[in-house]
Amino acid sequence: MIDRWLSHLELFLLRKAPHWSVSIRSRRNHVVRTDKEFLELFDDLQRRKVIIQSMSEAFNLWQLCPKTARVQGDIAELGVYLGGTARLLSQIKGDRRLFLFDTFGGMPEVKEGLDKVQAGTFAETRLADVQRLMSGEKNVHFCAGFFPQSTKQLPGDAQKFSFVHLDADIYQSTLDGLTFFYPRLSPGGMIVAHDYRYLQCPGVKQAFTEFFANKPEPVLELWDTQCLVVKYSSTPDQR
Ligand SMILES: C[S@@+](CC[C@H](N)C(=O)[O-])C[C@H]1O[C@@H](n2cnc3c(N)ncnc32)[C@H](O)[C@@H]1O
Repeated sequence: MIDRWLSHLELFLLRKAPHWSVSIRSRRNHVVRTDKEFLELFDDLQRRKVIIQSMSEAFNLWQLCPKTARVQGDIAELGVYLGGTARLLSQIKGDRRLFLFDTFGGMPEVKEGLDKVQAGTFAETRLADVQRLMSGEKNVHFCAGFFPQSTKQLPGDAQKFSFVHLDADIYQSTLDGLTFFYPRLSPGGMIVAHDYRYLQCPGVKQAFTEFFANKPEPVLELWDTQCLVVKYSSTPDQR
């Protein structure tokens, strides 16, 4: 009964006040509300206090990562912190290996003027705690230390990636992440970055803008703050 009444209200608002209806539709009728498996996982990560992404951002990862299941290569995350998104990725990665990069001791030096996040932020994490959170998950590997130096810990056969999550918050780390992973991303592989649209992290967008200025792929903006790049298999003809 209430549901029918809400449906009428929704349709009425859609015609008479579309700006209101959008928020009602997204809260009430978006598929994210009916995906039980996702909701249970998101609730669990919130209960454990390890996720710092919004529900829609977590949902974007949840539905995008499996779409690369048939793309050749491993999965990587730069920026793990308490392990919330790492655990989410571990649940949807299939048999692929997941490589996790973080200092596990807080943000490194930041670029004056470009980054608002301070060096040392996110220091309240411990490698051992994140390892405990991920225990029981198969094919998960930790590369602790400063990125990109920490890439030396990758095994020799980790040359290709199918899905990369960049969540490093600052200009230099994001640029270093793109410089390392883009050439190693298989065709059809995806890079998703957190904070691209976040006004507190202008360095993330700056790094993408500079890096993709001479690349064929468009940087696609997602809700809330993420962006997505899908690697082309060949360079399309330039106009
Ligand atoms: C916002 S947190 C990541 C949050 C996590 N993805 C989540 O949603 O639960 C950002 C992390 O990036 C890490 N980070 C940034 N630049 C780094 C670098 N160059 N090397 C290693 N870790 C880095 C910081 O240590 C910090 O833990």
